[in-house]
Formats: sequence, C-alpha cells, structure tokens
Amino acid sequence: MKINSTKYLHGTINLPGDKSISHRAAMFSALAEGETKITNFASSADCASTLECLKGLGVEISREGSTVFVKGVGKTGFTKPAKELDCGNSGTTMRLMCGILAGQNFDSVLTGDESLSKRPMKRVIEPLALMNAKIDSIENHAPLTIHGKNPLTAHAFEPKIASAQLKSCLLLAGLNARGETSVLEKTQTRDHTERMLKYLGVNLQETKTENGTLISVSGKEVLTAKDLNVPSDVSSAAFFLVAAACLKDSEIILKNVGLNPSRTGIIKALRSFGAEIEILNETELSNELVGDLRVRGSEALTRKAETNLIGGEIIANLIDEIPILAVFGTQTQGGIEIRNAEELRVKESDRIAAVVENLKRMGAKVEEFQDGLRVERSNLKGATVDSFGDHRIAMAFAVAALFAEGETEIIDAECAAVSFPEFFDTLKNVCR
Ligand code: S3P
Repeated sequence: MKINSTKYLHGTINLPGDKSISHRAAMFSALAEGETKITNFASSADCASTLECLKGLGVEISREGSTVFVKGVGKTGFTKPAKELDCGNSGTTMRLMCGILAGQNFDSVLTGDESLSKRPMKRVIEPLALMNAKIDSIENHAPLTIHGKNPLTAHAFEPKIASAQLKSCLLLAGLNARGETSVLEKTQTRDHTERMLKYLGVNLQETKTENGTLISVSGKEVLTAKDLNVPSDVSSAAFFLVAAACLKDSEIILKNVGLNPSRTGIIKALRSFGAEIEILNETELSNELVGDLRVRGSEALTRKAETNLIGGEIIANLIDEIPILAVFGTQTQGGIEIRNAEELRVKESDRIAAVVENLKRMGAKVEEFQDGLRVERSNLKGATVDSFGDHRIAMAFAVAALFAEGETEIIDAECAAVSFPEFFDTLKNVCR
C-alpha cells in the first residue's frame, strides 16, 4: 500500500461495529436460551473467527452483511467439535473461548495463526486449572487442548495483569462452576462482558472495595437471548480522530461510536493535547453508551500540553490506541511519552518495537523503553514501513503517511482486515 500526504479530511464516516463487543455478542448469544439478532456486527476477520469457532461447536449462525442471527444453545448445549477450532489472529477469541470450553463436558482444541501461537496463554491456563479445568499447551502457547469439565469449581481470583480478556474468560468459566466465582479488578479494563451479561439477565455483582472492583457471578445464572445492537468501534475511530485533529481545516463526523467510559481514554488523551473533539447525540444501545464524534483540525496542537506523559491507570483504557497515539505525538508541540504499557510487547506484534522502528524509518526522533516510548515533535518523511503483520500498526502508519513529506509504502497493509477491512477505502474517501 502506497500513501501520500493529504491536505485535510472531510466527511461523515460510518465505522464497522466494535470488535470487542461483537465477539461477546456472538459468544453470549450462543450461550443464551433463545434466538438473537445482532446488528452492526463487526466486519473484522477476528470476529469471523469467533463465528466459525461457534459453528464448529454446533451453533446455528447465519449472516446477512452486518446482521448476524444466532440460535442459542444454552450454557452447556455445545457439541464436541469434529475438528480443531481455529481462532486465526484473535486473542479475544482464544482467551474467551477457553473460559467457555473449560466448562463443557468434552475435549476441544483451539489453534491460531503464527502470531497468536506466540502470545502468552499461561494467564488463562493457570487460573482455569484452579477451577479444575485442565489445558494442555506447547509451553503455555497454542495449540491448546482443553479438557472440559462440568461443573467447574468456583474460585476467587485476584489477577495480576489488567486484562479484559482474562477477566472475561474467568467470568465465563464461572457461569459453569459450582458456587460463586469472583474477579477482583485492581485497574479497570473494558467492561463489555459485565454490561452484556447483565443485559442478558445475568445477576452479576459488582462491588467497589478498597482494592478495586469485585465482580462475581454464580454458576446458577442463565443468559436469556435479547437482540443486540453493536456500536461502531472507537478503536477504529481513533485513526480518523488523530488524522483529522492534526490536519488544519479538517472536519469529520464519526457516527454512532461506542463511548463506553472504559474505552474513551483515547478521546481524553487527545483532548489533553488540544484536539477538538465534540460528542453529539449521546444515547444508550444494548447497555452501551454511543454517540457521534465531531473532530476538527486544531491549531491548539501547537500549544504545549500540561503534561506529555501518558501512563498509569489510563493505559488499560487506551491499550489498543497506543500505536496511533505515538504517531499523534509526532504532531504535538512537546511530543509524547508513553509508559506502563509493557503489555504492548505481547499483542499481535511487539507494538513498542514496531512503532519505534517505523517512526525511526520515517525520520522521527524516538526513544524506546521496556514499558513504552518517547517521541519528539517531528517532521515525518515518507519511507517504507512494515505492519509486522499487525492491523493496528498498518493503520497507524497509514495515518503517519498523511503527515509525511513524500510517499510512504506500508508492507503487508492487508492485515488491517483483522479489525477493519474497509479502512483504506474509508480513509481515501475522506482525504482531500
Ligand atoms: C480486548 C482486550 C484487550 C485488547 C484487545 C481486546 C477484549 O486485550 O487489547 O484488543 O476484547 O477483551 P487484553 O485484555 O489482553 O488487554
């Protein structure tokens, strides 16, 4: 993919459905009693992997564009899969499916692509063992053979890693456990699982304690099917927010974007550097906040922000937006420093290394830390950059290319389809 700079962005954009919410919509409606119609289901390859895994477990699913129909089988109505279940590139599919499959009375095997097979699975294997589910792996990596058991044994967890995938995995296992399973969440991560389970009638308890939020669920709970409407993906919106905020004279409107407070750290962070982002028509959809975002190119980015450090609690909230935030840093007065983001090392690629390498290739002054990076305000130059097979790196550097002098070539840009197959067409349509 070759991209040149652009003057500004203009137009109205309808983004595909949120990836995190779509995964859950598919899985939870399969676990529910009754039929579900899901609208604005993500077009992402990752969410298609989830649908395929569920079909492999005997769930009847049909799809018409972005509308998906699921016939729920209940918490234990899955059938033993005839073959391995392929999670593709999707960590969310693999880790959440582990929680579901641990509580089924059959064995199953989860596989993934090369990137997913390198990602750490110990974080789900060890806690599920405490609930009596045995998972065989290749040194804590996929393929995973799950020896399911029903009922599992409930357990009280205090995870050390701030991860919504891990939290969700444990709560899903808890739905098939004898007793009450709880997760003490010290740093808040996205709470789509909690919101959707409640929406589907599950009595999920959330108690604020001195040490964080205690989330608990009993194995007696059942899910009742209810139609689900997926908001557009704020993580996909982030690329357009940054592009428009940095290019004077831009004005774009992003429709119907998910504004769950556990995901809007990116808006907060961009605003703290002077980005002009307005929220319009805020409303609620299937227990999730949504609204339109209007962003205008801002002169204010040339002012110095109060702090150029992004670190601590907000990191979990904007974990997927860090590559594009680093690109944004090249356009702000004082640059940007990102810390406490070591989890980025074990995403679809080592995102710290990937961002640092590509920014360097484009002529930015950047320093790498074990837990983040610092980038100075820089005049970017067109270069050949690499997606490293990671969708968010491909899209972040497509935006960097818009700010750069000369042409930028992105190697293996097609991987954007993992979360946003329409990304390059959508971007082209609003570039002026
Ligand atoms: C996700 C949680 C995050 C995020 C991923 C999606 C989810 O991962 O990076 O893209 O849908 O729960 P972790 O939970 O591993 O931080």
